[in-house]
Amino acid sequence: MANIRLSNISKRFGNTDVLNGIDLDINDREFVTLVGPSGCGKSTLLRILAGLESADTGTVSIDDTDVTRIRPADRNLSMVFQSYALYPHLSVAQNMLTPLKLRDLSFPQRLPLIGPLLAKTEYKTLYQQIKNTAQILKIENLLDRKPGQLSGGQRQRAALGRAMVRDPLAFLMDEPLSNLDAALRVHMRSELTQLHQRLRATFVYVTHDQSEALTMSDKMAVMMKGKILQYGPPDEVYHNPQTIDVARFIGSPAINIIPGSTDETGCVSLFGKSLETHVSYPHSTLHIGLRPEHLSLSENNGNSFPGIIRHIENLGSDLFYHLETEGMSQRIVVRSSQSEGKRLPLGSLTYFKAQKNKLLIFGESGNRLTVKSQKLAEVA
Ligand SMILES: Nc1ncnc2c1ncn2[C@@H]1O[C@H](COP(=O)(O)OP(=O)(O)OP(=O)(O)O)[C@@H](O)[C@H]1O
Ligand SMILES: [Mg+2]
Repeated sequence: MANIRLSNISKRFGNTDVLNGIDLDINDREFVTLVGPSGCGKSTLLRILAGLESADTGTVSIDDTDVTRIRPADRNLSMVFQSYALYPHLSVAQNMLTPLKLRDLSFPQRLPLIGPLLAKTEYKTLYQQIKNTAQILKIENLLDRKPGQLSGGQRQRAALGRAMVRDPLAFLMDEPLSNLDAALRVHMRSELTQLHQRLRATFVYVTHDQSEALTMSDKMAVMMKGKILQYGPPDEVYHNPQTIDVARFIGSPAINIIPGSTDETGCVSLFGKSLETHVSYPHSTLHIGLRPEHLSLSENNGNSFPGIIRHIENLGSDLFYHLETEGMSQRIVVRSSQSEGKRLPLGSLTYFKAQKNKLLIFGESGNRLTVKSQKLAEVA
């Protein structure tokens, strides 16, 4: 069991507020990611949870026990770092033994050689424990190697193995995949989620990579400037961002943010065309968010907008057309499913339309506005 509760956590380094009154509830067995741009305070928050850093205000509780003043070793949490932090002179098996040794399992001062030669039953049990963990991680055949003789992915798994042998209440991971190449990172993402399912333990995972957070988490906490802007399941955060900052940060290619306005009735216009959608703010300037997949190329008709193709991003399954539109400095990105041999030429004029029910409307302050009424008879 590990229900984790962070209440009103604040932290200041010198004159800088790094965390401002963070509240976060993590349920037992959830995979929660802390995601946000560099410097927003993710690692600091994780370190406060681990007890490696102290908070200026607030409390950390695990299963309703206040652990704010309890030292890291006694919180029974395992931390996996970006740098793996493996001992280079020890084998994988010996590395995996160190946390057990640190927890005072009456180990002799010098680590014994680990392997089938071990005689004592005590060591045999521990060796079996390490072998079982290695089996789950598929590194059984690497137990005698030193970290320098492993690939990045194998080193990562050894570091995970070391965290696992302790059977902790929760696993805390700070960007554990960022040293891996792109293909291995994607592979390890799915391995980690499978591992989470198998271990049925609480995972708190820090990343600055929104796609990692979207693919792996049960819930994601989007952090910026020391605050949690939104906390919820990936689908909710992606489809229902509550602020323009969250909308911009989550999703790749990024959401299109287009300036819009309302007339005296609160009716929203985009590029001077009414969208037959109303909000409660007449005579206002707005930001309209439309994800590339909610736009599509179209005929030139009363409901479409013109754009000149300036760039085409080919992702194999999809094409993303980057369009220049009048009066906008940024390009509008439109997704189009790949149909072989049918690609519009660069520099040509095309038209695009928007799925009205997917509009995300933000006020000038960046907060999401609720749509009061919308005519959805037709996709505009
Ligand atoms: N020990 C420290 N002393 C002073 N400032 C610090 C210290 N640790 C972190 N900071 C500052 O606190 C802010 C948050 O740092 P933190 O490491 O939590 O960010 P992060 O979100 O993990 O970023 P990244 O994605 O780059 O790892 C940064 O501005 C950082 O420079
Ligand atoms: Mg960090």
